[in-house]
Amino acid sequence: MRVSVIGLGYVGLVTAACLAEWGHDVLGVDADESRLEGLGEGRLPIHEPGLPELVERGVASGRLRFSTPSASAVSSAQVVFVAVGTHDGAGGWQTMTIRTTIASIAPDLADDATLVVRSTLPPDFVRRLASLVNEPRELGGQRSVAVMTNPEFTREGAAVRDFLDPDRVVFGVCDDPLGRGESMLRKVYHATDAPVLVMSGTDAAMTKLGSNLFLATKISFANELAQLCDAYGADVAHVVAGMSYDVRVGRGFLSAGVGFGGSCLPHQVTMTVRDSETLGISTPLFAAVEEVNDRQRRAFVDRIIAATAGASKPRVALLGLTFKPGTDDMREAPSLEIARMLIEAGIRVTAYDPMEAARARAAQIIPALAVVDRASKAIMNSDAIGIVTEWPEFGKLPWAAIAKAVRRPIIVDGRNCLDPVAMALAGFDYIGFGRSARSVPVEEAGREEAGAASVVRERTLPTRQGYPVERLVHRGAESRVSEA
Ligand code: UDX
Repeated sequence: MRVSVIGLGYVGLVTAACLAEWGHDVLGVDADESRLEGLGEGRLPIHEPGLPELVERGVASGRLRFSTPSASAVSSAQVVFVAVGTHDGAGGWQTMTIRTTIASIAPDLADDATLVVRSTLPPDFVRRLASLVNEPRELGGQRSVAVMTNPEFTREGAAVRDFLDPDRVVFGVCDDPLGRGESMLRKVYHATDAPVLVMSGTDAAMTKLGSNLFLATKISFANELAQLCDAYGADVAHVVAGMSYDVRVGRGFLSAGVGFGGSCLPHQVTMTVRDSETLGISTPLFAAVEEVNDRQRRAFVDRIIAATAGASKPRVALLGLTFKPGTDDMREAPSLEIARMLIEAGIRVTAYDPMEAARARAAQIIPALAVVDRASKAIMNSDAIGIVTEWPEFGKLPWAAIAKAVRRPIIVDGRNCLDPVAMALAGFDYIGFGRSARSVPVEEAGREEAGAASVVRERTLPTRQGYPVERLVHRGAESRVSEA
């Protein structure tokens, strides 16, 4: 099929490259000429695993081409996807870009074309989508076209896999009296055997919003649970592993730590809370999700401040800047707020991230933040190390050697990604979220706990900050616990 994709950001570029991979004839359209020039030379504007290979293959086969906006870029397509931004960058929606885009392409659409909006849309905007496309066409004596939405559920860092092998595909119907739009979209998605759900455009927008609100709620739930685990002396990783075997609960999105960032989750929670106020609806659950998430960054900073108390001119190493591993995206990255708060508290902060683009962006946003290109440079002479993003390489650092080299061997694990026992054995005071086992008396050391001999508490190591570290010996039940 001949497909045009308008807007080559995170969503549009992945859509274009994946559709070309499925054999469609795809034209990617973007107004940014330097972006197009880069793409032509194999330079991608974003870091997304698997995407460079797909773009290269698409371009080499001739199935993926790029162009600046033009009437023919639209008129030649059977299906036109729109994937332009809808965030204002300050926690609000902005629909100006999508309105302008639609106004400019509507007259150029072929009479039998289908327009598909892939951008995330405010649910109340969806109802107006069809008229934005078709009213000007009808006024100009043209036929109306099918108008659909197709929200994306792709995660950054796994976007290619999520597109090519989706859990489900959702089609939102905005204007499709003859069913042509649905049938064209089914042809576009011919290569997947995932369930396809066809619903109203508003339902589709709410499905996207509902998915993200639920994921955000799960994360804030895990963070609240972690607080209880700290208070009761439990390890949230073991607790979540134990919960996860119940299919009603599942394991996903229950990792405690500094909370969620990125372009979707924080924005959609904030927007929902704001919109609800405007609509006169009470949504205390979503307000709490936001509050818990904000609290997590502060809790991380408080742990670092407590850990470095007493050090003169404390230095802290922050490992990880991106909002999650596998991306170079710094939008709503918890690291930025954390770095700002630490600097305001008089701490000298040196940060490292494997992504060069993320390092450059962080240094630009926070000039007082020292940013270095190796983890060892950040760690050197630090009074505490804080992990903000769980990049796999951090698990492989020579922690025992590092413990001897730093000014104080203290680690605050904002992603619960390191093994507390291994870190304690390496010589670190390990501080996680919901893993501090604070209330377990030392006298109980050695006593076998419920669950038979699976976990024996050997001894509790009080840390300098009052977050004791517990050494656990796993016997028998390792396999289940280690899945945490
Ligand atoms: C999200 C949705 O997952 C995706 O379906 C939608 O299309 C776009 O928004 P993304 O923003 O790429 O994707 O990241 P995601 O993997 O959802 O992670 C969001 C944030 O939550 C990250 O900062 C991550 O570190 C954090 N997170 C995730 C947790 O704090 N705990 C978890 O258990 C999982």
